[in-house]
Amino acid sequence: MDFVTTGDGSKTLYNAEIGECYHSKHGAVQESRHVFIQTGLDYYVQQTGAKAVAILEVGFGTGLNFVQTADFIRERSVAVNYVGIEGFPLPLSVIAETGYGETVDAGVWSAYLAAYEEGLKQEVQIHERLQLHINHTLLMDFRSEKLFDVVYFDAFAAIHQPEMWSDAALGHIAQFVKPGGVFVTYAITGNLKRSMKSLGFSIEKAPGAPGKREMLRATKL
Ligand SMILES: C[S@@+](CC[C@H](N)C(=O)[O-])C[C@H]1O[C@@H](n2cnc3c(N)ncnc32)[C@H](O)[C@@H]1O
Repeated sequence: MDFVTTGDGSKTLYNAEIGECYHSKHGAVQESRHVFIQTGLDYYVQQTGAKAVAILEVGFGTGLNFVQTADFIRERSVAVNYVGIEGFPLPLSVIAETGYGETVDAGVWSAYLAAYEEGLKQEVQIHERLQLHINHTLLMDFRSEKLFDVVYFDAFAAIHQPEMWSDAALGHIAQFVKPGGVFVTYAITGNLKRSMKSLGFSIEKAPGAPGKREMLRATKL
């Protein structure tokens, strides 16, 4: 896989098999912060006043959304239990070359690199308010007894990987969301809105990350 520089100067990976990059070409880091941190986590914390948030990410990839999350909670009194789902984990050597360490606190980045490989095997306590577990599994094989407050849905686009956006896939994830829990993703389509409504979510169109007009935020009723 090759690195590509995106609109905000941060890098992303190009997956030739899928024919798509891991992040927005308009800006990988700004997309992560806008879609997942501000419209997902920050919104949820502000709405609920939660001091402990369980996050589920579909498509953990490089861990960009994880490190932005870890950086976000650094100076806030919020604890995060972070669970990723990743079918095809990247080698640590590739993650180390993303340059994402330059976009977060140095301690956040070094703690992430140190935890990554162990995190693929079991939950790692990164510090007293942060745990990470990356499930090396395909989405449809993911199981959990735990329910989640916030879902970061970061699959490749439907045009390249339609099965990730099917009713079956979205329904599989929906069962792990708490009532009042929030599901965010960078895209919004008629099909996605219909599926999420039928799965018991209320739908909002939120402003999209630069380069995209709108994105979806759905709240479980
Ligand atoms: C758009 S990229 C995610 C980018 C990632 N959030 C990041 O910040 O680097 C989609 C991810 O989904 C993973 N993936 C693709 N098909 C999957 C499946 N069926 N189950 C689990 N993960 C899958 C890919 O390997 C890739 O890492």
